[in-house]
Amino acid sequence: MALVGCGSGLPLHSLSNDDLSARVDTNDDWIRSRTGIGARRVAGPGESLTTLALAASRGALEQAGWAAEELDLILLATSSPDDLFGSAPRIQGLLGAHRAVAFDLTAACSGFLFALVTASQYLRAGTFKKALVIGADQLSRWVDWNDRRTCVLFGDGAGAVAVEACAPDADGLLGFRLRSDGRRADCLTLAQSRERQPLVGEFSAQVGGFAPIAMNGQEVYKFAVREVPAVLQELLAETGTEADQLDWLLLHQANQRILDAVAERFAIPNERVLSNLAAYGNTSAATIPLMLQEAVADGRVQPGHLLASSGFGAGLSWGAALLRWQGPKG
Ligand code: UT7
Repeated sequence: MALVGCGSGLPLHSLSNDDLSARVDTNDDWIRSRTGIGARRVAGPGESLTTLALAASRGALEQAGWAAEELDLILLATSSPDDLFGSAPRIQGLLGAHRAVAFDLTAACSGFLFALVTASQYLRAGTFKKALVIGADQLSRWVDWNDRRTCVLFGDGAGAVAVEACAPDADGLLGFRLRSDGRRADCLTLAQSRERQPLVGEFSAQVGGFAPIAMNGQEVYKFAVREVPAVLQELLAETGTEADQLDWLLLHQANQRILDAVAERFAIPNERVLSNLAAYGNTSAATIPLMLQEAVADGRVQPGHLLASSGFGAGLSWGAALLRWQGPKG
């Protein structure tokens, strides 16, 4: 599987830490020093998960030099679809990717990495040739804006990567590891609300709906700084890669302190750690492709560069992938 294009979609409106401190008891200093976050984008009335994902998809297609009709597969990693039946088919329709099969995949903040690996299996098996992997979330609609412990963390956004089948020696997915541990599911939830409505006689039915995001921040933090280095270490060992061979560390953007801790563990200097937390906060499934797009666009990530990536979050779920960015064919 070769990674040949990427794109991003972001809401227009940016909410700063100072803006938030007018609503909840927080301040710029606390948020920056504990998380590295300075602002986050919040979708406005004309924006949605679909419009953000669409913008990201169009960017990835354009960079890859593909027409939408060439796509065989669209995978949308999201925990916040516009439609619980799935948002990928609507995106497929709006793109005009009429040949492609499109479906959603949910693995919270690990979703993009899980979807990328899923796409790679179809491409390697020869089932499909061209795929679009989108990571997108609009968690602003599921955050309790009165809960300072969570509302300062999340933002909306989308990123997409165009991937295509290739010869094994050109494969840009050099290795991967995926993990789940449902025993720790309660650490981070966007769970159904349990309200019921009376039906007939003694019968009642549950009313559809979800409670806001709830997180045991300290537990998730400990999980991340333990499991991310461990899974990356396994991946590096399995692929015979030394940390100093990596051009970039591309982690899920949840907390700058987590990025720093992982980088320190592998003695990777700050200049090789990709971070856009200051501008966008935690955009869940979108962080990795959003960050990749930004670093490709400004020339930091060049064709042939080697990136160690890791996603982690609710599930609990986590994983790592060793990637080589190819970029569009010359
Ligand atoms: O994307 C999915 C993966 N998610 C993550 O990886 C998140 C992992 N967790 C974290 O990044 C951190 O745990 C947080 C950033 C969520 C929290 O940082 P922390 O250093 O663990 O803070 P804490 O929860 O231990 O809270 C410390 C204090 C508390 O006050 P007391 O009880 O010590 O008086 C909180 O009430 O900070 C208080 N606090 C705040 N103060 C100002 C919590 N949130 C805020 C806030 N502004 N926004």
